[in-house]
Amino acid sequence: MLIRPETPADLPAIHQLVTLAFASAAHSDGTEQDLVDALRAGGHCALSLVAVQDNEIVGHVLFSPATVGTHPVAALAPLAVHPDCQRQGIGAALVREGHRQIAALGYDWSVVLGSETYYPRFGYQPARALGIRAPFDVPDENFMAIRLRPDAPALSGVMQYVPEFGI
Ligand SMILES: CC(C)(COP(=O)(O)OP(=O)(O)OC[C@H]1O[C@@H](n2cnc3c(N)ncnc32)[C@H](O)[C@@H]1OP(=O)(O)O)[C@@H](O)C(=O)NCCC(=O)NCCS
Repeated sequence: MLIRPETPADLPAIHQLVTLAFASAAHSDGTEQDLVDALRAGGHCALSLVAVQDNEIVGHVLFSPATVGTHPVAALAPLAVHPDCQRQGIGAALVREGHRQIAALGYDWSVVLGSETYYPRFGYQPARALGIRAPFDVPDENFMAIRLRPDAPALSGVMQYVPEFGI
């Protein structure tokens, strides 16, 4: 399995993969693939990686720029793995490589809205305890953040997503 940045030729396959992955997801509004397209079109894709196996795109992760107060943070969303390829470590590999690359781009925090049983394995903790509040109503355990560098500054404020999220 190879993880690499998306290329223009990947876009239809990414759209299809995200659609398929979220079709059976517990928490989905069915529009995650449109969010990916909108973020890219709006110039708000900070990092988009694909996982490739046997020349097929089997996983995808996107990070968009966000802010907490005036501090830039990365928003991890969405993360998708093909239903036939789940539970093989592809999602974990995308998150870990995503963290490495987004940190190299200068982001020292990542924030995610997601499963409290999945993301803590990467070091995510409830964001509220770290000073980051969600701009919507959500259980504290599902809105999580991680310092990507030990010297990341402490944050205090409400997370502001880019407009494509419609928040
Ligand atoms: C969530 C998802 C990206 C995980 O990818 P993956 O490649 O299957 O995950 P990994 O192989 O890295 O990790 C497998 C572990 O994640 C757990 N897991 C998988 N999907 C999960 C989910 N939706 N919620 C919580 N845990 C999940 C598995 O139970 C497994 O746990 P274990 O290691 O304790 O057995 C994938 O299941 C997916 O695309 N789901 C549909 C879309 C979605 O819900 N995306 C997340 C949005 S926050």
